[in-house]
Amino acid sequence: MPNTTPRTMGQQFGRRSWAEPWKINMVEPLHVPTRTQREGALREAGYNSFLLRSDDVYIDLLTDSGTSAMSDRQWAGIMLGDEAYAGSRNFYHLEEAVQRYYGYRHLIPTHQGRGAEHLLSRAVITPGQYVPGNMYFTTTRLHQELAGGTFVDVIIDEAHDPENLHPFKGNVDLGKLEALIARVGADKIAYVSLAGTVNMAGGQPVSLANVKALRALCDRYGIRIYLDATRLVENALFIQEREDGYQDTRIAAIVKELCRYTDGAWMSAKKDHLVNIGGWLAVNDQELFDTLRNLVVIYEGLHTYGGMAGRDMEALAIGIAESMQDDHVRARVGQVRYLGDLLLAWDIPIVQPVGGHAIFLDAKRFYPHIPQEQFPAQALTAALYLDSGVRAMERGIVSAGRDPETGADRRPALELTRLTIPRRVYTQAHMDVAAESVKAVYDARQTMRGLRMIYEPKYLRFFQARFEPLR
Ligand SMILES: Cc1ncc(COP(=O)(O)O)c(C=O)c1O
Repeated sequence: MPNTTPRTMGQQFGRRSWAEPWKINMVEPLHVPTRTQREGALREAGYNSFLLRSDDVYIDLLTDSGTSAMSDRQWAGIMLGDEAYAGSRNFYHLEEAVQRYYGYRHLIPTHQGRGAEHLLSRAVITPGQYVPGNMYFTTTRLHQELAGGTFVDVIIDEAHDPENLHPFKGNVDLGKLEALIARVGADKIAYVSLAGTVNMAGGQPVSLANVKALRALCDRYGIRIYLDATRLVENALFIQEREDGYQDTRIAAIVKELCRYTDGAWMSAKKDHLVNIGGWLAVNDQELFDTLRNLVVIYEGLHTYGGMAGRDMEALAIGIAESMQDDHVRARVGQVRYLGDLLLAWDIPIVQPVGGHAIFLDAKRFYPHIPQEQFPAQALTAALYLDSGVRAMERGIVSAGRDPETGADRRPALELTRLTIPRRVYTQAHMDVAAESVKAVYDARQTMRGLRMIYEPKYLRFFQARFEPLR
């Protein structure tokens, strides 16, 4: 018998406990593959967690994209799908939800986020232009490059330092942006690509003060700002918690205020919006809307479905409203923090402050003996899966890919393994299991070796690259 008194989560952290604002009414059985099965599955997958079958995974922390549990209301919405080719009533519900919560005038539905990135990049980038942004995102930057643009990172320096505790590590460095404008000229800037929160920096937020100042700067030069709103709801929670004057402002009001300083947004609805598929693009400018509405019929589908079924748009419209509830966002980010607090208490190196959607293990500090060209974050992802069947993903040199001009590997300062928490899916006990697995892998870190890449696809290599362990 343990001789310590059991303590609740709240007691352990010196506060009252809180719980998720929902209860479970349907479950999906999980299966724990044996160590031998995991070894075979990992070899088969070329040591790439994207190539594992989900049947071979126990706790799936690969991504929070499209992995949310929908509510009973959303499932009821699925039954109300109007599958008319044109003018589906579900589209109008979706349009109304985006206008109401984000405030933009015009909506273009897309099958998911990258569909929206493709349309926007095609419509507003002239080859040879630059696209400054607060850190790259894989698919976003690729679409900007395929449209002839060059992405320029103008995030604050603190974002590249996993140990820096700046409360808004997603902020744009206005000095870097002004220097770029001075160097290339305002007419060579396609737009500012602003993300809230910043995925590749560890789910870090941008402050409203920074966005307001960015707006003022861009207005001086006639530059537009387009927002990646994929995890804006989570960004709004950080503003509520950390930015002066917003403690009593509801999440929905913060989201709407931030959007007011931008000219439009694109969305991977598979994250904040609690659906398994979907996306959108929304803008204020009528002329740009006309262009996008014309492009969507070429690449996605008619302008009233854009690649989604009517039922998906209905679930999405309902999910938008649910995603804005303060208690939901607090519980969602609270679960991520719970996992982060455990790892920090055990001195395991993670990106701080803990972001909105995931815990990012700092593979450089985890495996200081593995050089970046031997893919330490990819190796850490593999080690975690081998230990427990927990699936994470690499966010380091593999994800960064190659420079399209020189062909050289991009070597990001951040070499991270992401444990991404799906929304409304796992319990605190699953977080405990994942945390203990990270600890076991950390305790065995000295024996770990790096990997060698044996297959590299041309685009977005992290999805399909294959590796083998170095002996
Ligand atoms: C910040 C961000 N932007 C855009 C996307 C692309 O969205 P999708 O995966 O729906 O194409 C993602 C997806 O992971 C993302 O995290």
